[in-house]
Amino acid sequence: MNIWPLTAEPAQSVGGVPLTELAEGFGTPAYVLDEEHVRHRCREYRKALHPHRVAYAGKAFLCRAMARWVDEEGLWLDVCSAGELAVARSVGFPADRILLHGNGKTPEDLTAALEYGVGRIVVDSAGEVARLAALAGDRRHPQKVLLRVTPGVDPHVHRAVATGVEDQKFGLSLASGAAADVVRRVLLQPSLVLAGLHCHIGSQIGEPDGYETAARRLVAFMAEFGGLPELDLGGGHAVAYRPEEHGLDVPAFADRVETAVAEECSARGIPEPSLTVEPGRAIVAAAGVTLYRVIAVKHGARTFVVVDGGMSDNPRPVLYGSRYSIARVGHRTGAAETPVTVVGRHCEAGDVIAADVPLPADVRPGDLLAVPCTGAYHHSMASNYNQVARPPVVAVRGGRARPLVRRETPEDLMRRDVG
Ligand code: LLP
Repeated sequence: MNIWPLTAEPAQSVGGVPLTELAEGFGTPAYVLDEEHVRHRCREYRKALHPHRVAYAGKAFLCRAMARWVDEEGLWLDVCSAGELAVARSVGFPADRILLHGNGKTPEDLTAALEYGVGRIVVDSAGEVARLAALAGDRRHPQKVLLRVTPGVDPHVHRAVATGVEDQKFGLSLASGAAADVVRRVLLQPSLVLAGLHCHIGSQIGEPDGYETAARRLVAFMAEFGGLPELDLGGGHAVAYRPEEHGLDVPAFADRVETAVAEECSARGIPEPSLTVEPGRAIVAAAGVTLYRVIAVKHGARTFVVVDGGMSDNPRPVLYGSRYSIARVGHRTGAAETPVTVVGRHCEAGDVIAADVPLPADVRPGDLLAVPCTGAYHHSMASNYNQVARPPVVAVRGGRARPLVRRETPEDLMRRDVG
């Protein structure tokens, strides 16, 4: 699957709209999202995973338009808070195609999910089973739940996003017997139905091996209870942030896990569960481009290019050491490329967007820069550090642009300050 369609170098347009025009029309910094690309990825996933369920993980990026696109493309939606659920609900996303996640769901999260009637709630602890069972007790239909299991698989990714290893806040350990204990607790609750098992072993995983191991372990565990109808293998599929990187090969992944599940089920004499996957990043990352305007260029031991955004709109380099490519938009001929470090405007030396990246040596204030592959975990993780307003999200499609989320204003920021 092609996940690098936007960045014919140098990047000049997205969805048929010149980036210079977008910067003029919507200002900078701005997140630009290619609607066709998002929809295309949804379709590719449904095709590669057919007949299994594909649930888009809304934590990667969610707004009302995104929820509509995901619905129209027939995917399920994974939400992890009453807030994300409210977005889905506001566009009438079908409740039976929603999964609720979270290792610390609040009473408000659980109540909102039950009220809307979400298809699955993924339970994460014994205490949550008891709380949910009590809340679900007076409903006419029992609530379908999946149990999040920690399979003890190391996906070899940044430790902040390695969630399948034992020493872990997420899920119930297979090895310690906690998972088996909570399965028994769920089975005792008349208001809950155990639809299956779930695991999410991590994020930005480029190889299918960890998924295969996890699938085999979960099927073996299911067999202890005579099998279960569903197996949800979570998300975490890697994308290429830079041209030299590679993402997860999704058809190869599907092949590996389908074969592993079939083999384990037949060896244990249980029926095959239906499968679910929950990609977030792989659906939306490569559809996004962030535009920045250069504010200053400082030559010293190295050349710093200061832009009008930074760690408040992209915290990923600071949090995970993530690397990005970057391009100047617009043609100005003649300049050889030189290594520069593109930094933000925030009050920290760690506020770096891209270290040691090539840009034309005549880069200067006023130039427009584009950072590709910024559709996932950028807008959704943006902050107001230094009382900086968050950028807008602009959708492009068929040569037209429209705002999905408007730029924050100083008034927006002041409105909550009620002291
Ligand atoms: N399912 C569950 C239960 C998850 O916790 C996640 C992500 C996903 C699916 C989707 O994972 P994806 O396919 O997007 O990798 N902020 C980090 C990523 C955190 C992922 C958290 N959970 C980053 O910017 O890299």
